[in-house]
Order: sequence, then structure tokens, then C-alpha cells
Amino acid sequence: MTTTSEVAINRGLRDIYFERTQSSFIDGREGKLLYRGYNIHDLAEHSTFEETAYLLLYGKLPTRQELAVFDAELKRNREIPAPVHKVIETVKDAHPMDVLRTAVSALAAFDPDVKDKGEEATLRKGIRLTSQVPTIVTAHHAVRNGRRPAAPSKTLGHAANFLYMFSGQEPSQRAARLLDKDFILHAEHGSNASAFTARVVIGTDADIHGAVTAGLAALAGPSHGGAAEGVMRMALEIGEPEKAQAYVKNLLAGGGRVMGFGHRVYRAEDPRARHLREDVRRLSEEMGEPRWYSILEAVVEAMKPYARRGIHVNVDFYAGVIYHLLGIPEDLFVPIFAVGRLPGWTLQVLEQYRNNILIRPRMVYTGPMDLPYVPIDQR
Ligand SMILES: CC(C)(COP(=O)(O)OP(=O)(O)OC[C@H]1O[C@@H](n2cnc3c(N)ncnc32)[C@H](O)[C@@H]1OP(=O)(O)O)[C@@H](O)C(=O)NCCC(=O)NCCS
Repeated sequence: MTTTSEVAINRGLRDIYFERTQSSFIDGREGKLLYRGYNIHDLAEHSTFEETAYLLLYGKLPTRQELAVFDAELKRNREIPAPVHKVIETVKDAHPMDVLRTAVSALAAFDPDVKDKGEEATLRKGIRLTSQVPTIVTAHHAVRNGRRPAAPSKTLGHAANFLYMFSGQEPSQRAARLLDKDFILHAEHGSNASAFTARVVIGTDADIHGAVTAGLAALAGPSHGGAAEGVMRMALEIGEPEKAQAYVKNLLAGGGRVMGFGHRVYRAEDPRARHLREDVRRLSEEMGEPRWYSILEAVVEAMKPYARRGIHVNVDFYAGVIYHLLGIPEDLFVPIFAVGRLPGWTLQVLEQYRNNILIRPRMVYTGPMDLPYVPIDQR
């Protein structure tokens, strides 16, 4: 029998490699991130969400023709079935992440490929989900505000269409590009908690709707996608840059964590943060609200002593303020993360199926042994 002392336990599966992947490369020490071999900085600056999604799903940058076909497929799949609209109305008072998770689960019932777990059908379902998730998020937002959901645009790009369905008005090119870049930066990130959850579900030979539903559940937590919501709340509480130092000191003294800081893999700055920082700076200046950028930078200054321990800003630190400045309420921050992450989840699901194995680690039992069973009337 194996005793507890003989087994090395890796709590949280920290630094455990469980699979090979062609999805993304992360160098946590250098702060380097590649999607399918391409540097995130190049993609953030030059690509679009549609092109990046194609890259993730097909493993290569598309030609113009390939991109046009893919883009048309994304646009064609934006509608959601009427019964799913009913589901959204029924649960409309819940947190948008709970609504999204419930609606994605419900979509399985209406998907023409639901019984087919083959490669092509899974890809079709992943693309459909990528198109449908923005519709769910924005339809729910309309319904909870007593408005009729806007029909998805047949012409706007992914990010512009999201903003259009969110507000009912065509967004400026600048706003659409900001969100487009945000979606690119959130599109894929290896075996993070939600993608790993999706892989565990596929490991049992279940289907992509189940995997994405479970991925959404994992993403909702404040240690994962929920952090952007926390950062905005923190910025609002701090109120002015001069108060950041004391706020951070207080929070840490009470054993709290500064949201938007720290990462399981990165020991250097999260490379995705650079682009969002620049966007926050420019946007808050352009909108005449430079204090948001100043507050965030004051928090970074207050966290400087932690940088020596490898605790730096992560992707969520700047994202929340961008959404806020675009007029998006805090509880939609995680759903927006999910909109961006759909191609990454789909890729992880496809990879898992291709070389599938049940994911089933073990735990060391530390409870009592061989207790005598006492009948209920003798306890
Ligand atoms: C992301 C996160 C969950 C990673 O957790 P992890 O890999 O398990 O790291 P640990 O919890 O082991 O943290 C290591 C040490 O750094 C400290 N630390 C990590 N993140 C911190 C933060 N945001 N603020 C203050 N201290 C932090 C921990 O307290 C711990 O200190 P200790 O060794 O003295 O106990 C964690 O950094 C966190 O909670 N961050 C805030 C939430 C967030 O921004 N999430 C988005 C991630 S993209």
C-alpha cells in the first residue's frame, strides 16, 4: 500500500505537464505568448479577431478568400433559436455569467450536429458557439433592461456587432477596434482553469456544448475571468490616484489580493497587459477621464515591492477600465472574456478529441479508516 509520505502532491497541479499542445506557447519567465507560433504582440497590432480565430482553429493564417468564407460562416450563425431566447427571459435576473452558462447548455438541444462528435461537426459547433455567445450576452442585457434584443447584424465584424447588439447603435470604428483587440488578447491561453475544465469534460468523450458550459462555470470565478470585475470595483473604491497606496496597503494587510495582479504561470508582466494599458491611457485621455489611468498606474506603483516576487499585472488589470469607458456594466466583463475565449476553448476541445484520454488524477486519502457501521437508531 502507498503511504501518504511516499506520494508527492502537486496541489493545484502547479507546474504539472499533462499533455502536448499546438495551441499556444507561454514563457512565464520572459512574459512571452504565442498563438500557434505567432507572437501575441503581432496579432494584437495587426490581426483581427476573425483572423486570429481562424489561425487558432485551422493552425495557419488565412488567405483573403479563406478569411472571407470563415467570416461569412461566423456572420451566418449569429441567430439563436427562439426557445433559447425564452430561457434567457426566464433566468434574466441572474448574473450574466449564469445566464450565459444556462443558455449555452440549452443551445445543445437545438444544435443540428449535437449527436456528432466528429472533428468536422465539432468545428462547426465551435464556430456556431463563437457566433451565438455574443448574441446571448447582448440579448440578455437588452431583456433585463426591458428592451427588445437587437437582431444580429449581417455585415458588421465580430466586435462591432457585439457593441451594436449591446447598445442598439452602430459603434465608432475606434470602439470596435478596441474590443476587437481585447477579443484577440483573450482568445486562447493554454491549459488555464476553464480550458482544462473543458478538456476534462471531453476526456469522458462528452460533447463541446458540455465542455463550453463547464468552461464558462470555471471562468466565472474571481481567480480567473472574474478578476476584471474586481479591478473596476477597486478603481471605483479608490476614487483618486493619491488614495491608491493606502488602499493597497490596507487590502494586503488584511490578507486580501489585489485583483488583476499575479498569475499561475507568468513571473514577468503578462504580455497581453501592455496593449490594454496603452488603450486605457489613450481612451481615458480622449474621454476626458484621465484619472482612471492614473489610478491604475498608482496601484501598479503601490504593488512595486511585489514585482520582486514575480507578482505583476495580468490581462484583467486594464481590461475592466476599457469596458467601463465603453459604457459596459461590470457584470458583463466576464461574459466579454468568454466571447473572446470561444476559439481557444474550441481548439482545446478539438485537440483533446484527437488524442483523447480520460483525465483522472488521484488524491491521497487522509480520513479515518475502517469505521464500524452503526445502525441509524443506535447513533
Ligand atoms: C491568479 C492567481 C489566482 C494565481 O494564484 P496562484 O498561482 O495559486 O498563486 P498563489 O496563490 O500561490 O500566490 C503566490 C503568492 O503570491 C501572493 N499573491 C498572488 N497574487 C496576489 C495578488 N493579486 N495580490 C497580492 N498577493 C498575491 C499570494 O498571496 C502568495 O503569497 P504567499 O506565498 O506569501 O502565500 C492569484 O495571483 C490571484 O488570486 N490573483 C488575483 C486575481 C486575478 O487577477 N486573477 C486573474 C488571473 S489572469
